[in-house]
Amino acid sequence: DVIREWFGLNQLEHQLEKQLGLNKVIVVAGNSLTQPWVKNDLGRSAVQQLKQWAEPNSVVSVAGGTTMEAVAQAMTPHPVLRTLLYVPARGGLGEKVEYQANTICSEMASRSGGQYRLLHVPDQLSKEAYASLLEDEQIKELIRIIRSARIVVHGIGEANTMATRRKASPQMLAKLKERQAVAEAFGYYFDRDGNIVYKIQTVGLRLEDIKQADHIIAVAGGEDKAEAILAFLKHGVHDCLITDEGAARQMLQYI
Ligand code: F6P
Repeated sequence: DVIREWFGLNQLEHQLEKQLGLNKVIVVAGNSLTQPWVKNDLGRSAVQQLKQWAEPNSVVSVAGGTTMEAVAQAMTPHPVLRTLLYVPARGGLGEKVEYQANTICSEMASRSGGQYRLLHVPDQLSKEAYASLLEDEQIKELIRIIRSARIVVHGIGEANTMATRRKASPQMLAKLKERQAVAEAFGYYFDRDGNIVYKIQTVGLRLEDIKQADHIIAVAGGEDKAEAILAFLKHGVHDCLITDEGAARQMLQYI
């Protein structure tokens, strides 16, 4: 705590809580853009927060990405975490297997001793395939569980980075640019004001479901994500942000 005081991290947290209207902000030292190990600290902080908020037997819905992978890595056996059901927030966003929400939720469950359910939905569904998938009883039941999650843990990405990582077509990249997308989370792309400008067609959590969760933990750091984090938070679905000093200081420059 003395070290946190020394680096002014507590002050950064309070400043961001006030300016962004968040219930809780946690800032870890460093900048994950240039110091990759900082992501592990983000992961550990997210797990600590989860331990504080988790109620026995609740459903936790988790997103994918490298930061969420760090969260999964930081999970340890724990009396309450062991009783949780981990589910992926949404299916089929075009990530590599190791960064898919399915992989991350199974890892979180196995490291903590909890249960998990997987959502098998291919990437890039046609409208027809999407509609028939929604008719499937097992998928319907799982989607109902996902939407009932009491806690949601997710990452935030920069729009162009995420579209490129998902191998978006040049047309799609042009569309995002034209619509001035700067942020991405849960398969939704947002402009600077937090408006949704594009939505990946898949199943699972919708932004309106997230609003009914008791706790929403966004985990995102790195100086390069500052604008994206601010844009996503402007959309209004927020509660707790776990970030690093690099992103925190940059965000304060923008607001
Ligand atoms: O694709 C899943 C996802 O959670 C996105 O919604 C988010 O933009 C991204 O991963 C964050 O990834 P990373 O933590 O690797 O920057």
